[in-house]
Amino acid sequence: MNYWDNTNPIYSEFAKQEGATGAQQLGWNDEACQARCFDVLMGLATDFSGPLTGKTVHDAGCGYGDLLARVRGAGAHYIGSDCMEASVQKARQLHESADFRHLNLLVQPVPEADVTVVCGALAFYPHDLVERMLQRFWVATRETLVFTSWWNVPPDWDNYKPTKQVQKSIDAFLRKNGSRRRKVFDYGNKYEIAIALSR
Ligand SMILES: C[S@@+](CC[C@H](N)C(=O)[O-])C[C@H]1O[C@@H](n2cnc3c(N)ncnc32)[C@H](O)[C@@H]1O
Repeated sequence: MNYWDNTNPIYSEFAKQEGATGAQQLGWNDEACQARCFDVLMGLATDFSGPLTGKTVHDAGCGYGDLLARVRGAGAHYIGSDCMEASVQKARQLHESADFRHLNLLVQPVPEADVTVVCGALAFYPHDLVERMLQRFWVATRETLVFTSWWNVPPDWDNYKPTKQVQKSIDAFLRKNGSRRRKVFDYGNKYEIAIALSR
Protein backbone atom coordinates (compact mmCIF):
# COMPACT_ATOMS: atom_id res chain seq x y z
CA MET A 1 0.00 0.00 0.00
CA ASN A 2 1.32 3.43 -0.86
CA TYR A 3 0.15 5.72 1.92
CA TRP A 4 1.57 8.80 0.26
CA ASP A 5 -0.63 8.89 -2.79
CA ASN A 6 -4.29 8.09 -3.04
CA THR A 7 -4.14 4.37 -3.65
CA ASN A 8 -5.60 2.18 -0.97
CA PRO A 9 -5.98 -1.34 -2.35
CA ILE A 10 -7.74 -2.56 0.78
CA TYR A 11 -10.65 -0.16 0.28
CA SER A 12 -10.65 -0.80 -3.48
CA GLU A 13 -11.07 -4.51 -2.73
CA PHE A 14 -13.88 -3.89 -0.22
CA ALA A 15 -15.66 -1.78 -2.85
CA LYS A 16 -15.53 -4.60 -5.39
CA GLN A 17 -17.32 -7.19 -3.20
CA GLU A 18 -20.17 -8.74 -5.14
CA GLY A 19 -23.58 -7.68 -3.82
CA ALA A 20 -22.09 -5.56 -1.05
CA THR A 21 -24.13 -2.76 0.47
CA GLY A 22 -22.66 0.75 0.71
CA ALA A 23 -21.45 0.19 4.28
CA GLN A 24 -19.92 -3.17 3.36
CA GLN A 25 -18.08 -1.54 0.45
CA LEU A 26 -16.49 0.74 3.05
CA GLY A 27 -15.36 -2.20 5.19
CA TRP A 28 -18.24 -2.41 7.69
CA ASN A 29 -19.89 -5.71 8.56
CA ASP A 30 -23.26 -4.12 7.85
CA GLU A 31 -25.26 -0.88 8.07
CA ALA A 32 -26.32 -1.53 11.68
CA CYS A 33 -22.72 -1.72 12.80
CA GLN A 34 -21.89 1.52 10.99
CA ALA A 35 -24.96 3.21 12.51
CA ARG A 36 -24.02 2.11 16.04
CA CYS A 37 -20.55 3.53 15.58
CA PHE A 38 -21.89 6.83 14.22
CA ASP A 39 -24.25 7.15 17.19
CA VAL A 40 -21.40 6.63 19.62
CA LEU A 41 -19.10 9.09 17.85
CA MET A 42 -21.76 11.81 17.60
CA GLY A 43 -22.70 11.17 21.25
CA LEU A 44 -19.09 11.63 22.34
CA ALA A 45 -18.79 14.79 20.23
CA THR A 46 -21.89 16.24 21.91
CA ASP A 47 -20.76 15.15 25.39
CA PHE A 48 -17.59 17.17 24.98
CA SER A 49 -18.60 20.05 22.69
CA GLY A 50 -22.22 20.50 23.79
CA PRO A 51 -24.93 21.09 21.17
CA LEU A 52 -23.37 21.10 17.72
CA THR A 53 -25.74 23.72 16.28
CA GLY A 54 -23.81 26.14 14.08
CA LYS A 55 -20.52 24.30 14.59
CA THR A 56 -18.39 22.79 11.83
CA VAL A 57 -17.84 19.04 11.80
CA HIS A 58 -15.12 17.52 9.62
CA ASP A 59 -15.80 13.89 8.67
CA ALA A 60 -12.21 12.80 8.03
CA GLY A 61 -12.13 9.77 5.74
CA CYS A 62 -15.81 10.22 4.93
CA GLY A 63 -16.29 7.35 2.47
CA TYR A 64 -19.67 7.96 0.87
CA GLY A 65 -20.64 10.71 3.32
CA ASP A 66 -22.96 8.51 5.35
CA LEU A 67 -22.41 10.63 8.48
CA LEU A 68 -23.81 13.73 6.76
CA ALA A 69 -27.44 13.22 7.84
CA ARG A 70 -26.49 13.00 11.51
CA VAL A 71 -24.29 16.09 11.32
CA ARG A 72 -27.00 18.11 9.57
CA GLY A 73 -29.58 16.68 11.95
CA ALA A 74 -27.54 18.19 14.79
CA GLY A 75 -27.65 21.57 13.05
CA ALA A 76 -23.93 21.57 12.22
CA HIS A 77 -22.04 22.42 9.03
CA TYR A 78 -20.49 19.39 7.36
CA ILE A 79 -17.16 18.95 5.58
CA GLY A 80 -16.32 15.47 4.29
CA SER A 81 -12.92 14.46 2.96
CA ASP A 82 -11.49 11.26 1.58
CA CYS A 83 -8.36 10.20 -0.30
CA MET A 84 -10.22 7.79 -2.59
CA GLU A 85 -11.41 9.68 -5.63
CA ALA A 86 -14.11 7.11 -6.42
CA SER A 87 -15.57 7.50 -2.92
CA VAL A 88 -15.62 11.28 -3.14
CA GLN A 89 -17.35 11.06 -6.52
CA LYS A 90 -19.97 8.71 -5.14
CA ALA A 91 -20.47 10.91 -2.05
CA ARG A 92 -21.01 13.92 -4.32
CA GLN A 93 -23.56 11.99 -6.39
CA LEU A 94 -25.44 10.86 -3.29
CA HIS A 95 -25.42 14.26 -1.57
CA GLU A 96 -25.21 17.00 -4.17
CA SER A 97 -25.37 19.97 -1.83
CA ALA A 98 -22.61 18.86 0.56
CA ASP A 99 -18.97 19.93 0.78
CA PHE A 100 -16.81 16.92 -0.12
CA ARG A 101 -13.07 17.31 -0.66
CA HIS A 102 -10.65 14.91 -2.29
CA LEU A 103 -7.75 14.99 0.19
CA ASN A 104 -5.07 12.65 1.42
CA LEU A 105 -5.10 13.74 5.06
CA LEU A 106 -1.68 12.28 5.68
CA VAL A 107 -0.06 14.88 3.46
CA GLN A 108 -2.56 17.55 2.42
CA PRO A 109 -3.91 20.29 4.68
CA VAL A 110 -6.52 18.97 7.10
CA PRO A 111 -9.68 21.15 7.05
CA GLU A 112 -10.14 23.11 10.26
CA ALA A 113 -13.26 22.30 12.25
CA ASP A 114 -14.78 22.59 15.71
CA VAL A 115 -15.23 18.82 15.77
CA THR A 116 -13.24 16.26 13.78
CA VAL A 117 -14.74 12.79 13.44
CA VAL A 118 -12.41 10.05 12.20
CA CYS A 119 -14.45 6.93 11.62
CA GLY A 120 -12.36 4.06 10.33
CA ALA A 121 -9.77 6.17 8.51
CA LEU A 122 -6.89 5.13 10.76
CA ALA A 123 -7.40 1.45 10.06
CA PHE A 124 -4.58 -0.37 8.25
CA TYR A 125 -1.97 2.30 9.00
CA PRO A 126 1.23 1.41 10.82
CA HIS A 127 1.64 2.96 14.25
CA ASP A 128 3.95 5.83 13.28
CA LEU A 129 1.49 7.03 10.64
CA VAL A 130 -1.47 6.67 13.03
CA GLU A 131 0.33 8.99 15.43
CA ARG A 132 1.19 11.42 12.64
CA MET A 133 -2.42 11.51 11.43
CA LEU A 134 -3.79 12.02 14.95
CA GLN A 135 -1.44 14.95 15.52
CA ARG A 136 -2.52 16.52 12.24
CA PHE A 137 -6.21 16.04 13.07
CA TRP A 138 -5.74 17.46 16.57
CA VAL A 139 -4.01 20.61 15.33
CA ALA A 140 -6.91 21.24 12.93
CA THR A 141 -9.55 20.71 15.66
CA ARG A 142 -10.83 23.63 17.72
CA GLU A 143 -12.79 21.63 20.29
CA THR A 144 -13.21 17.87 20.07
CA LEU A 145 -11.58 15.02 18.18
CA VAL A 146 -13.31 11.66 18.10
CA PHE A 147 -11.86 8.63 16.38
CA THR A 148 -12.11 4.87 16.15
CA SER A 149 -9.30 2.38 16.41
CA TRP A 150 -8.93 -1.33 16.49
CA TRP A 151 -8.06 -2.45 20.00
CA ASN A 152 -6.89 -5.76 21.47
CA VAL A 153 -7.14 -7.53 18.14
CA PRO A 154 -6.01 -11.14 18.58
CA PRO A 155 -2.55 -11.82 17.15
CA ASP A 156 -3.88 -14.40 14.70
CA TRP A 157 -6.38 -12.03 13.15
CA ASP A 158 -5.38 -12.00 9.49
CA ASN A 159 -6.41 -8.50 8.52
CA TYR A 160 -4.35 -6.64 11.01
CA LYS A 161 -1.20 -7.40 12.99
CA PRO A 162 0.55 -4.40 14.58
CA THR A 163 -2.22 -3.58 17.02
CA LYS A 164 -0.06 -3.40 20.14
CA GLN A 165 2.19 -0.80 18.60
CA VAL A 166 -0.79 1.20 17.40
CA GLN A 167 -2.27 1.12 20.90
CA LYS A 168 1.00 2.35 22.37
CA SER A 169 1.10 5.21 19.86
CA ILE A 170 -2.47 6.19 20.66
CA ASP A 171 -1.78 6.07 24.39
CA ALA A 172 1.27 8.28 23.88
CA PHE A 173 -0.78 10.70 21.78
CA LEU A 174 -3.49 10.85 24.46
CA ARG A 175 -0.98 11.38 27.25
CA LYS A 176 0.55 14.26 25.33
CA ASN A 177 -2.66 15.91 24.23
CA GLY A 178 -5.67 14.62 26.04
CA SER A 179 -4.91 15.75 29.52
CA ARG A 180 -8.07 17.83 29.83
CA ARG A 181 -10.90 15.51 28.93
CA ARG A 182 -10.95 12.18 27.25
CA LYS A 183 -13.15 9.16 27.07
CA VAL A 184 -12.72 5.71 25.63
CA PHE A 185 -15.83 3.86 24.59
CA ASP A 186 -16.39 0.27 23.57
CA TYR A 187 -19.34 0.39 21.21
CA GLY A 188 -19.74 -3.33 20.87
CA ASN A 189 -17.92 -3.76 17.58
CA LYS A 190 -15.51 -6.60 18.20
CA TYR A 191 -11.93 -5.31 18.51
CA GLU A 192 -12.79 -1.67 17.90
CA ILE A 193 -13.22 1.28 20.24
CA ALA A 194 -14.08 4.96 20.00
CA ILE A 195 -11.91 7.59 21.67
CA ALA A 196 -12.64 11.27 22.19
CA LEU A 197 -10.53 14.12 23.46
CA SER A 198 -11.38 17.72 23.93
CA ARG A 199 -9.58 20.97 24.67
C1 LIG B 1 -13.62 2.23 6.98
S1 LIG B 1 -13.82 3.53 5.78
C2 LIG B 1 -15.07 4.46 6.63
C3 LIG B 1 -15.76 5.50 5.80
C4 LIG B 1 -16.74 6.40 6.57
N1 LIG B 1 -16.04 7.17 7.60
C5 LIG B 1 -17.80 5.54 7.20
O1 LIG B 1 -17.66 5.24 8.39
O2 LIG B 1 -18.74 5.16 6.52
C6 LIG B 1 -12.36 4.53 6.01
C7 LIG B 1 -12.20 5.65 4.99
O3 LIG B 1 -11.01 6.40 5.30
C8 LIG B 1 -10.43 6.82 4.10
N2 LIG B 1 -9.02 7.16 4.31
C9 LIG B 1 -8.03 6.31 4.66
N3 LIG B 1 -6.86 6.97 4.70
C10 LIG B 1 -7.12 8.26 4.36
C11 LIG B 1 -6.31 9.42 4.20
N4 LIG B 1 -4.98 9.39 4.35
N5 LIG B 1 -6.90 10.58 3.83
C12 LIG B 1 -8.24 10.63 3.62
N6 LIG B 1 -9.06 9.56 3.75
C13 LIG B 1 -8.51 8.39 4.13
C14 LIG B 1 -10.61 5.60 3.19
O4 LIG B 1 -10.47 5.96 1.82
C15 LIG B 1 -12.01 5.15 3.55
O5 LIG B 1 -12.99 5.74 2.74
